Amino acid sequence: MATSSQNSNFNRKKFEAQLHNSANEVERTLDRLLKKVSGPEGRLMEAVRYASLGGGKRIRPFLTLHTAALFNVDAAQAARVAAAIEMVHCYSLVHDDLPSMDDDDLRRGQPTCHIKFDDATAILAGDALLARAFEVLSNEQTHQDAAVRIELVEALAKAAGPQGMVGGQMLDLVAHQHNLDMSEVARLQRMKTGALIDVACMAGGILGKATEHARHMLHGYARDLGLAFQITDDLLDVEGNAETVGKQTGKDAGQGKATFVSLLGVDAAREQARLLSGQAQEHLAMFEKKGEPLRDLAHFVVERLS
Ligand code: IPE
Ligand code: IPE
Ligand code: MG
Ligand code: MG
Ligand code: MG
Repeated sequence: MATSSQNSNFNRKKFEAQLHNSANEVERTLDRLLKKVSGPEGRLMEAVRYASLGGGKRIRPFLTLHTAALFNVDAAQAARVAAAIEMVHCYSLVHDDLPSMDDDDLRRGQPTCHIKFDDATAILAGDALLARAFEVLSNEQTHQDAAVRIELVEALAKAAGPQGMVGGQMLDLVAHQHNLDMSEVARLQRMKTGALIDVACMAGGILGKATEHARHMLHGYARDLGLAFQITDDLLDVEGNAETVGKQTGKDAGQGKATFVSLLGVDAAREQARLLSGQAQEHLAMFEKKGEPLRDLAHFVVERLS
């Protein structure tokens, strides 16, 4: 078992260029898929575009584009799926920031959607992003084979729904009343964050009709990566500053959130994140050299500053 995220081949400059390229690709696709609308309802798409364009690390699109590349999937089809998953992620952020949830005023270095617009518009913008994501997946430009499209729709619906992201958000909201232990916090995090990261990885395998064995390996990678990712998010909330992180910090403790950091403390949580990142990389052995961008991402996720 690996004891750190240390990837001796990690080249930060090369990785950041790759992340930048995949972010640009998804940005162009989102821009095409989320067109401005005129008339009195135009404000809705303005808010949708505000919440989804021009920011974010675009980690989930990177996962979809690079898992798709493992199976030689058409790049334009992979970009549509990456954009759909990013739409669901952006919707989750807009709703997560609402006064009735985390009550945040800063996201990706900008005022949150409900601050820039208003609560009702932010709720509708989130709803619009969620609906549009499924419209994109079900369109035949996404894949010629309807069975593949249905599999994508089902996978994203499960990841976003009560067994996944929104179920995890519910747990997150009630956690302070329940004194969760480590395994319960791990379950909360697997649902609220891990599920979307998992579908972002599996989407490449679904598009590429990957073997059961390859899918199993991608699930293993996603499970460890997702947990490492959320632990790092929780560490940044404790140790980061708003200017670098792009969102307010120091909020989780104030709101009584249950995290690995609240249970383990900073040092052990960081060690855990690095351990998980190392484990995530080991699941990629069967992909050999082709798995390198995904190994690099696992490294980046726990060493990031934003
Ligand atoms: C933030 O996700 C929300 C969590 C699930 C922790 P990211 O850190 O991926 O946010 P962006 O997309 O880069 O802004
Ligand atoms: C949110 O987790 C995960 C979502 C499903 C949006 P957090 O509440 O920790 O995310 P941040 O820190 O606000 O980005
Ligand atoms: Mg939250
Ligand atoms: Mg939040
Ligand atoms: Mg957080």
